[in-house]
Amino acid sequence: MLQLDTRNVSKEVIGKTHGLDLPSVFKQYGSHMGQLVSNLWQQKDTPQAWRKWLTLGENETLVQQINAYGERIKGQFEHLVIVGIGGSALGGIAMFEALLPSYWNDRSPAQRHGFPKYYFIDNVDPDKLSALLDVLDLKKTLVNVITKSGTTAETMAGYLWLKQALSEAVGPENVPHHLVFTTDPEKGLLRQIAQEEGIVTFEVPEDVGGRFSVFSAVGLLPARLLGLPIELLLKGIRDISPVLQSTDLTANIAAQGALIQYLMYQQGQHISVFMPYSAKLASTADWYVQLWAESLGKKYNNQHEVIHAGPTPLKAVGVTDQHSQVQLFNEGPIDKIFTFVRLERFHHPLQIPNLYPNLPDLSYLGNQPFEKLMNAECDATRASITQNQRPNVTLSLPELDPIHFAQLLFLLEVQTALMGGLLDLDPFDQPGVELGKKYTYALMGRPGFEHLKAEASGQMQEPAKA
Ligand code: PA5
Repeated sequence: MLQLDTRNVSKEVIGKTHGLDLPSVFKQYGSHMGQLVSNLWQQKDTPQAWRKWLTLGENETLVQQINAYGERIKGQFEHLVIVGIGGSALGGIAMFEALLPSYWNDRSPAQRHGFPKYYFIDNVDPDKLSALLDVLDLKKTLVNVITKSGTTAETMAGYLWLKQALSEAVGPENVPHHLVFTTDPEKGLLRQIAQEEGIVTFEVPEDVGGRFSVFSAVGLLPARLLGLPIELLLKGIRDISPVLQSTDLTANIAAQGALIQYLMYQQGQHISVFMPYSAKLASTADWYVQLWAESLGKKYNNQHEVIHAGPTPLKAVGVTDQHSQVQLFNEGPIDKIFTFVRLERFHHPLQIPNLYPNLPDLSYLGNQPFEKLMNAECDATRASITQNQRPNVTLSLPELDPIHFAQLLFLLEVQTALMGGLLDLDPFDQPGVELGKKYTYALMGRPGFEHLKAEASGQMQEPAKA
């Protein structure tokens, strides 16, 4: 199970100015946190409450459907292209980087056990898009289009472009076989297209928002198509759920994490740094940034009062960022709360060879495992941050496997929802994103959005003259 180490936010460790008196804080907020936890879970099945993601661990039927589809198309495709953006992409990107062997696309078919190479399209940059066609064999390509709304301009543009390319490569009558959609059960253009063209479609369930959807078909379908054991992902969620449902603050690490983030935000630590000590969790930091930013950056609270709230999430990766951002972290403004992620065990027992035994300043590294170096660097950074009186917590994972990866993401989702409760805002909407989407529609001439065109263009400033 995951562990949360909260010692380095206590006043005994980092001093009274920025530290918390944890026992008294836990006592003071215990019942409020218990209430927030119970409100969250009680509404998991309430329509329109957008908390259905809490139930995704129990969806055995979906696992069967996905496995059946995976078996049916087994061995037919060498390339899997996933088209989606935001919550429809970031969870998958994080998961495949974390759980598949690194350099997946450079591995031979045998090293990939016959599973395809994968590519995400989450941008509309024409230079990057067109380069994809240089490496894809479209006759052996499956395209998974993921959009809950079924209308997102970036995703739909990517779909239109790839569909045409497929049509030219395999003939229009064969295109449906190369497509699989993941979208709303009823609404949206993609659902309509799927019905009219007979394209296999999986659901983003009702009341599951994009950034909370990684354990629906959004993440599970491509995960299965790449050979990941999706049953274990869901088992991980089920195993940790009782801890995250506990109304006892001393037992619930998501509630503790949310409370610490909240109190730090209130006292001026407005930046929430997420720093995993694992190269394979770099994209998980991107996922966290989106989850935190889109859920908690809000203009209004639940009473519709203007609050302009939201901690700024910041990605950092150990050890890489020790030689980039850690100077700022240690000596810059004390405006950050750090979450370190530490793996107790790495899978490969790689040793540093002792090639220069006569050079003591180099040979000290010799015959030591890389794992020890990684965790020494993690502990050294935590210690230096703590020494500089900066609050930090550490999430420890026994290892990076499907069970613990799923638990990490699920824990962070629950923590985010509880942080929304503490800030008294709705973590499940994203009106600030919707407005930009509508302006894009207006600027691109989508019918029904003409009235927004002037507003959308009027906000663009003329560039200053040199
Ligand atoms: O988290 C969210 O809700 C957003 O990031 C969406 O996932 C993103 O805007 C893409 O939306 P859609 O899946 O409707 O294309």
